[in-house]
Amino acid sequence: MDLADRVCLVTGATSGVGREAAVMLAARGATLFLTGRNRAAGEALAAELNAARPDAGVFVAADLSTLAEVRRLAAEVRARHAKLHVLLNNAGLVLPRRELTPDGFEKTFAVNHLAPFLLTQELLPLLKAGTPARIVNVSSEAHRALGVIDWDNLQGEKSYRGFRAYCLSKLANVLFTQELDRRLAGTGVTANAVHPGVVVTGIWRGVGGSLLGLLAMLAKPFMTSVAQGAAPLVKLAADPTLEGVSGRYFNREKEVKSSPLSHDREAAARLWDMSDRMVQPKGG
Ligand SMILES: NC(=O)c1ccc[n+]([C@@H]2O[C@H](COP(=O)([O-])OP(=O)(O)OC[C@H]3O[C@@H](n4cnc5c(N)ncnc54)[C@H](OP(=O)(O)O)[C@@H]3O)[C@@H](O)[C@H]2O)c1
Repeated sequence: MDLADRVCLVTGATSGVGREAAVMLAARGATLFLTGRNRAAGEALAAELNAARPDAGVFVAADLSTLAEVRRLAAEVRARHAKLHVLLNNAGLVLPRRELTPDGFEKTFAVNHLAPFLLTQELLPLLKAGTPARIVNVSSEAHRALGVIDWDNLQGEKSYRGFRAYCLSKLANVLFTQELDRRLAGTGVTANAVHPGVVVTGIWRGVGGSLLGLLAMLAKPFMTSVAQGAAPLVKLAADPTLEGVSGRYFNREKEVKSSPLSHDREAAARLWDMSDRMVQPKGG
């Protein structure tokens, strides 16, 4: 698909599958808005894209663990573009130990779930102005590891395990996608979730020192390449055969049914309401 004049925002564009997806989208003619914390890596990527095609991309640094930064990022996008065609919510992490963000949220939950939740709300007017537009939420097969949601431990306040917090955040990505799809019906904006595969990227640093970290190290030779991991993201962002397709979950390039819990409408609505309250500006 030719993406000339299509504006794509990629979070987590400084490394891994997000970086590679940005390169692939730019190669198809898209205008990229890139973000991540690592300014050197982001600016190097923007320079690389712009060397291949003038004005192909811009990088704006933002730490998505802070809600104010998510709002500032959205404001930067609005200042530069009147329309957005693709929002690729890709940034994510795993943390071995519980950390709190300046807003007081557990960091995995904040970066992997609250940030895309808020960024999407903030950019919906631009996406609606850019229809047909697509939201792609990068989830994981790890979402299947949870059979129930412990609503009293969403922030790991009672007990914390890094991989469990990650699984919860990735389940939240699918529940968010489902609820978003229901709320966006008829708007021309679609929302889908995708598992990129088990890919050799920096994310595995977050499980270092644990049993999972050891397994990940042993599994490294069998993991897929970053290019293979980015391909499903690009497909969901740009493939013409997926025009109008929404509310689905893809394991790499294949549409599959996500976990039974991810289809729980009550849980999706409850998570939405809770998240909505959490992202409200304090004192607002
Ligand atoms: N690799 C896999 O096997 C796998 C499997 C399933 C799902 N996924 C999902 O794929 C997505 C991309 O991960 P990856 O594997 O490509 O890992 P990665 O190489 O570690 O990339 C993660 C990206 O997220 C950004 N990020 C992390 N924390 C951030 C923060 N606080 N603020 C802003 N950006 C932040 C990083 O940018 P900075 O460092 O510049 O902040 C980086 O660009 C994640 O959502 C992950 O859950 C990966």
